[in-house]
Amino acid sequence: MSLEKIKHYPVMLNQVLSIISPQHGGTIVDCTFGAGGYSEAILKFPQTKVIAIDRDKLVKQHADKLTKKFPSRFNFFTEKFSNLNKVIGNKINPRVIIFDLGTSSLQLLDKDRGFSFNSKNNLDMEMGLNNLSAYDVINTFDKKDLATIIKVLGEEKDGKIIANQIDKYRKKQPIKNSEQLAYIIKRAKKNYGNYKKNPATQTFQAIRIFVNKELTELISGLIEATKILSSNGILVVVSFHSLEDKIVKNFFNLYSSLKKNPSRYLPLKEITPNLFKIISKKPFIPSLSELKENISSRSAKLRYAIRSSNPFIYPEEFKNKFFNYEDLEKGTS
Ligand SMILES: C[S@@+](CC[C@H](N)C(=O)[O-])C[C@H]1O[C@@H](n2cnc3c(N)ncnc32)[C@H](O)[C@@H]1O
Repeated sequence: MSLEKIKHYPVMLNQVLSIISPQHGGTIVDCTFGAGGYSEAILKFPQTKVIAIDRDKLVKQHADKLTKKFPSRFNFFTEKFSNLNKVIGNKINPRVIIFDLGTSSLQLLDKDRGFSFNSKNNLDMEMGLNNLSAYDVINTFDKKDLATIIKVLGEEKDGKIIANQIDKYRKKQPIKNSEQLAYIIKRAKKNYGNYKKNPATQTFQAIRIFVNKELTELISGLIEATKILSSNGILVVVSFHSLEDKIVKNFFNLYSSLKKNPSRYLPLKEITPNLFKIISKKPFIPSLSELKENISSRSAKLRYAIRSSNPFIYPEEFKNKFFNYEDLEKGTS
């Protein structure tokens, strides 16, 4: 199937548009351009300017079409969103910054990239601008480290059993593609009854997160966005699994009016100022009609917050809380 022909559904687009009100114009940063669904919809509003980022170099061909159509209102950068400051600089304070996390349908369906269970080609799982591939992790990482990655980043209780099976296989010959890897995982989990989803789902998630340092990227991306967002600016995040949502939820709660009342005995300097206002504590989820049309949106959760006018403070509590994920993603083997 040609990638050009893949039907792409921008997840929760209507909710995103109603939160950011593009009719009011302003500079909007799309940190995860993908197939350009959000950027294209926003650019339909003539007062908007869009700065879009994606780490995947294959995405540029889609972005080029928008650059041609909107030369004065659209700019695209192949970059990781942890480097938002490099792209935006200190002259612009965007009115809106959006993250739509995870992989795009273009990446998932491209059999050459190893994201799907039946890919017979490379075991890459790289979104772009990576230091290592899934092949490196699966074939060269210490068995114990592999088990920890699968257990923590995949929330997979059988991390150890799966890592042992992978180790057994790779001693005979390298594990070369995703189909082989999915088969090994399925055999490792054979005693655990019937699965609604592919038994390799959690392990694939773990390896993909690790290869792309996705949690470290998210933590840095949120911090960088908070630094540059204008006062009253809107930060929108669409996440797809519980680790991502936990990070976003904690960040917003810790630095908003929702945080627990600090003890009155705390010295004043230790009371952190609110960086955000939160309108709803609960995440938004896709509507039934969206689910009917695009079932892969089922795990999406959207959270957003409004930047206060308080100056940026280094979010130490947040960094400390998720230090373990950043440390794990640094890689131990
Ligand atoms: C779910 S898709 C976005 C889809 C997009 N909203 C649309 O409507 O087409 C996520 C995209 O974000 C990109 N991405 C993920 N992590 C990134 C990061 N740390 N920096 C830059 N781009 C990233 C991926 O390469 C992928 O293309």
